[in-house]
Amino acid sequence: MERPGTIISNDILQDDYYIVKFHAPEICKTTMPGQFVHVKIANLRDRILRRPFSICNVDNDGVLTIVYKVVGKGTEALSQLKSGIVCDLMGPLGNPFTLPKADEIPVIVAGGYGSAATYILAQRSPKPGILLLGARSKTDLILTDEFAQAGFEVRTATEDGSQGYTGRVTELLPEVFEQHKNDKLRFYGCGPTGMLMALGKILMTKNYSNGELSLDHLMCCGVGACFACVVKVKADNEDGWRYARTCKEGPVFKASEVYYG
Ligand SMILES: Cc1cc2nc3c(=O)[nH]c(=O)nc-3n(C[C@H](O)[C@H](O)[C@H](O)COP(=O)(O)OP(=O)(O)OC[C@H]3O[C@@H](n4cnc5c(N)ncnc54)[C@H](O)[C@@H]3O)c2cc1C
Ligand code: FES
Repeated sequence: MERPGTIISNDILQDDYYIVKFHAPEICKTTMPGQFVHVKIANLRDRILRRPFSICNVDNDGVLTIVYKVVGKGTEALSQLKSGIVCDLMGPLGNPFTLPKADEIPVIVAGGYGSAATYILAQRSPKPGILLLGARSKTDLILTDEFAQAGFEVRTATEDGSQGYTGRVTELLPEVFEQHKNDKLRFYGCGPTGMLMALGKILMTKNYSNGELSLDHLMCCGVGACFACVVKVKADNEDGWRYARTCKEGPVFKASEVYYG
């Protein structure tokens, strides 16, 4: 599972977002939408602690792409790595998204890097669909052109009103429900936990319980050994819930599995 990934390029995508391409043919061969790699960042002092990143894209030449935002010392160190450096990549890890059926229209609801985490899903979907992408400000709206090129209709929302609808991305949902009441929709979510919980509750009330949410919780080992990454899922017990390890049982869960209490 641990494989070398040689950096081909590592450039600024936009503002604090970077796009890094690794040569990692073995991982590319089996990657499914929504899976992630756990990266040992070559120049990081405490590099024993890996950092998880969704796989944004893979191609037939063995090029694996990650899009990441610099938020702390790990991602800062990653942004300094030049082509030719080799990182240890563990993956592909995690349960993937289920592809939509041929007669379903995918609706992806994403926040921040959530568009990167769902880009393979958009590419492999039998039919193009809709991307609802939300962020605090327009500097956090990434990959909108790439989704449009994949045939997706892109609708954006920002909390500061700098692009698209002013407000939260989940507030774009009523219009989608209204416009597509005679269509088969299948929902996918990836983004901040608060957004996913709000999305999951809406999907449950609208009977889209087969919608799927990628719960990208903080992770440590990445392989089910440490329990750093647990979230609450429904369970048939006294409490009505149990802990699930997002690295093993997730990060993708059905909306109907998640405990919203
Ligand atoms: C399955 C999975 C897939 C991910 N995919 C991507 C991706 O494609 N692109 C991307 O930019 N990031 C992604 N992340 C988040 C990424 O792993 C963290 O941003 C990164 O580990 C931060 O490392 P750091 O050392 O730079 O920051 P740290 O110093 O560890 O943390 C800096 C800040 O970021 C917060 N933070 C760290 N991890 C997370 C997290 N998982 N969720 C929310 N806040 C966090 C910390 O609480 C802290 O406030 C993913 C996380 C998971 C679990
Ligand atoms: S990160 Fe260690 S169990 Fe999930």
